[in-house]
Amino acid sequence: MSPTDAQRAAPLLEIESLRYRYGQRLAVDGATFAIARGELFGLLGPNGAGKSTTLRCIAGLIEPDAGSMRFAGAPFTPATSGADRARIGAVPQEIALYGELTARENLDFFGELHGLSGAPLAAAIDAGLALAGLADRANDRVKSFSGGMKRRLNLAVGNLHAPELLLLDEPTAGVDPQSRNHLFESLLALRAAGRTLLYTTHYMEEAQRLCDRIAIIDAGKLLAIGTASELAAQAGLPGADLEAVFLRLTGRSLRDA
Ligand SMILES: Nc1ncnc2c1ncn2[C@@H]1O[C@H](COP(=O)(O)OP(=O)(O)O)[C@@H](O)[C@H]1O
Ligand SMILES: [Mg+2]
Repeated sequence: MSPTDAQRAAPLLEIESLRYRYGQRLAVDGATFAIARGELFGLLGPNGAGKSTTLRCIAGLIEPDAGSMRFAGAPFTPATSGADRARIGAVPQEIALYGELTARENLDFFGELHGLSGAPLAAAIDAGLALAGLADRANDRVKSFSGGMKRRLNLAVGNLHAPELLLLDEPTAGVDPQSRNHLFESLLALRAAGRTLLYTTHYMEEAQRLCDRIAIIDAGKLLAIGTASELAAQAGLPGADLEAVFLRLTGRSLRDA
């Protein structure tokens, strides 16, 4: 049965009043937002805003102190449910690969960790190499790769088990422009294939260029959500870019934040 329009429009992930505290420090302070199926959703904010903490809660690496999450309409508790965690793919901010292993061996290793084997694993590895643009480097050790190539392979690892939601935490940090464009093409290809992506960045031009909708986060609070032009209108600055929107919302420049 193909999904109805209503099912397609229904949120894949709903986050309600999410709160997380590291000791005394409130890192996420009551975040509420929803990501639609097939959407490339951006979380935009300066360093320390709470982006990675929000993603860690969704990936189940940490358990929220308060708030609730729903996935495909049902309660979602990834910190305590392996089945819930399996619905998420996470591309961490740091490169998480084995330098002594080849690209193919890395994909094989992480694929087995996700419970893949046999023909489905082989197909997932080939798809991952294609997504990363590394089919011709499959048998080279990762330690010989450029930073951009490692980033692309990091993405392929996170996407290996075809998760319903793919989380990307600042995947372009320290990436050269050519690899960055390649990464963008990969993300847009995933979205075109109907996948749902949550992308964090502190680069407003990336969010503006790439994301269907954007949530602006600062000091743990979500300040506004919408398309880039909706955000500008909400801020009373129709037609303005996200830098001006951020300045209006926070009184600070995102570049200086
Ligand atoms: N492991 C940690 N222990 C203590 N404080 C942390 C830890 N990780 C992050 N923080 C703090 O929580 C806040 C949000 O951090 P983070 O979610 O990493 O923000 P972002 O990813 O937007 O840069 C910051 O003030 C940061 O210093
Ligand atoms: Mg971060």
